[in-house]
Formats: sequence, structure tokens, C-alpha cells
Amino acid sequence: MRKPMDISEIETGVVGLGMMGSSIAVALCIAGHPVKAVAPVKNELENAKKTIAQLLQHAADSGLLQQSKPHYWKRITLSEDYSILQNCRLVQECVIEDKNAKSRVYQKIADQTKVDTVISSNTSAIPVSILQDMVPEPGRFLGIHWAEPAYMTRFMEITKGEKTADSHANWVYELAHLWGKEPTFLQKDIRGFVTNRLMYAVYREIFHLIESGETSIEDTDKAFRYDAGSWMTFMGIFERMDQMGLSDFRETFQRVFPKLSNTSRVPEMMQEMVAGKVRGVQQARGLYAYSPEEARAWENAFAKFNKEIYQLADNYQKIKNE
Ligand SMILES: NC(=O)c1ccc[n+]([C@@H]2O[C@H](COP(=O)([O-])OP(=O)(O)OC[C@H]3O[C@@H](n4cnc5c(N)ncnc54)[C@H](O)[C@@H]3O)[C@@H](O)[C@H]2O)c1
Repeated sequence: MRKPMDISEIETGVVGLGMMGSSIAVALCIAGHPVKAVAPVKNELENAKKTIAQLLQHAADSGLLQQSKPHYWKRITLSEDYSILQNCRLVQECVIEDKNAKSRVYQKIADQTKVDTVISSNTSAIPVSILQDMVPEPGRFLGIHWAEPAYMTRFMEITKGEKTADSHANWVYELAHLWGKEPTFLQKDIRGFVTNRLMYAVYREIFHLIESGETSIEDTDKAFRYDAGSWMTFMGIFERMDQMGLSDFRETFQRVFPKLSNTSRVPEMMQEMVAGKVRGVQQARGLYAYSPEEARAWENAFAKFNKEIYQLADNYQKIKNE
């Protein structure tokens, strides 16, 4: 049984207003929190204001708002001044993936907040236990890893570091349900958490097959979309194994595991792309070729898809629970 919480009374902060920080600010706001959003670098504020307004409009167009748009807009305060965080119960750090930058940001957050204000990081790769040691009162620090667009996706990983207090972690876990998330709770931070580790195993294998000429990028994407993609939103990996019958898996594991790649080398293709400053759809230059119009259409279609898949998963979860 979840404890009742009045979310409208719980102030939350976001520091770092790039792609994810802006999206998280909207997610927290439309969940009902007053939000204090801090731009940690100069001249970011105007751009962040525009981005947040656009994302709020997108949330409205997607039917996610319970109240009018101005109601939410009034509840987001933007500033370069960390003192707006002083009454926050939770502050989400969302700055570049750089330990030194994060460390400086934690100090500034801690200088303005109470000792029991929970501080969380959206880091995808830096161990929570390492970041935690940069925070005064490390027991109040944990990882909250969101997925983009934060106000639409159900995914969230909550990760304790070695020193995270259970009381804080449990409180965030409860709260995350009120944000419409289905959070996973990692008691110990393993590198890459759960989802990234799963995907890294897939990336390693598939780059190995492509580099050894066994398959192509296009065929890999087709296999991923039309096989795994046809069931993933409906069920998880273990539910899938139950559905397929476990004995078959045992036989296949025995035969196939010895053939899988176990390289620790970064794929050559990836090294070349990064050296050539190829950055993907946002720059219209990636593993595939895109015109700028195609890249934009792609991003818009993905945003629409996210909304529909959220709804679809919800509908089928209800049917499964009946
Ligand atoms: N992009 C994703 O899909 C995604 C998903 C999950 C987690 N993350 C994580 O979220 C965090 C932010 O990612 P993003 O994609 O929003 O990045 P981003 O580049 O869009 O934004 C980063 C923000 O960091 C701040 N910043 C820049 N330089 C800084 C400095 N020197 N000191 C302090 N702050 C500085 C700015 O506010 C900037 O907007 C990273 O830790 C990233 O690993 C990103």
C-alpha cells in the first residue's frame, strides 16, 4: 500500500537545462510538483525557457495535462541562481557527463539546501557511489535515471550508492509512482545499471556480426524491430521465456553462448564515426544518411510514437491484471 503524499507541496529542483533537464522539469511539473529549474552555465536560460515552453506544449498536445498550460507554467521557476532551490525536497542533477562539473554542481546545491534534501543524478554511466562521495551528507544521494522524453516514458532506474540511506531511496521510489513511472530499484550500483547493460551486450554482438560481414546494419535493424520489437512492450525478457517454454532456451544457451562475442574492444566502425564527428539523427549524419527534413520528421514521429506506445502498454497491462 503506497503512502499518500501531497505532491503539490513537494518542491523539486532540476539543475542542468539541456535536453534531459528541460524534459525532466516538465515531467516533475505536470506530475504536480512546483519546480525550480537552474541553468548552471551562462546564457542558457533564454534557450531553456523556450525549450521548456515547447515541451509543455507538446505534453498538452499529447493530452498529458490535467490542468491548463498556464497553471503549470506558473509553477516552474527558472534561474541561474541556486538559491531558488532552498525549499526543495529533491534536486535532480542533469548536467554533462563529467565528474568535475557534477562535483561543482553538487557543492552549489548543498550550499543552498537542507541536509536532508535528496540529491539525485541522471548519470547514465558514472557509478552512483563515486558521485555520492562528492556530496556533503552522501546518504541523501542516489541515481534517478530517466528516459527521453521524461514526461512520456514509463522507464526509470532508481539506484542506491553504497552510502544511500534506505529512507531516502524508498521515499523516491514511492514518489516515482506518482510521476507515472514503473521504476526499477537497484540496491547496488552496477556499471551501466540494468537497461544499458542489456543494450551494451546487444551492441557488442551486433557490431561483431556486422564487422565480420555476417549481416548488415539494415537487416539487424529489421530483425530487432520486427522480432524483439513485436513483443517487448507487452512483456519482459523473463515473461517471454516463460511464454516460449524454458527447455528450448537451455538447449540454445548451451549451443550459442560459446559463439557470442566477448571482445572488450570498441568497434572499429564506432571509433571511425566518432573521429569523423558523426553524431546521429540530431545532426542528420549517422549510421544512416538523412536529409535535415527527414531527421526532423523522424524526431517528430518518435515523439508521437512514444505517446502511443505508453498508452498501448498501459491498456495491455490493465488487461493482464484483470
Ligand atoms: N540524452 C539522453 O537521452 C540521456 C538519457 C539518460 C541520461 N542522460 C544523462 O543526463 C545528463 C544530461 O544529459 P543531456 O542529454 O541533457 O545533456 P545536454 O548536453 O543536453 O545538457 C547538459 C547540460 O549540462 C549543463 N552544463 C554544460 N556544461 C556544464 C558545466 N561545465 N558545468 C555545469 N553544467 C554544465 C548545461 O545546463 C547543459 O544544458 C548526463 O549525465 C547524461 O548522461 C542523458
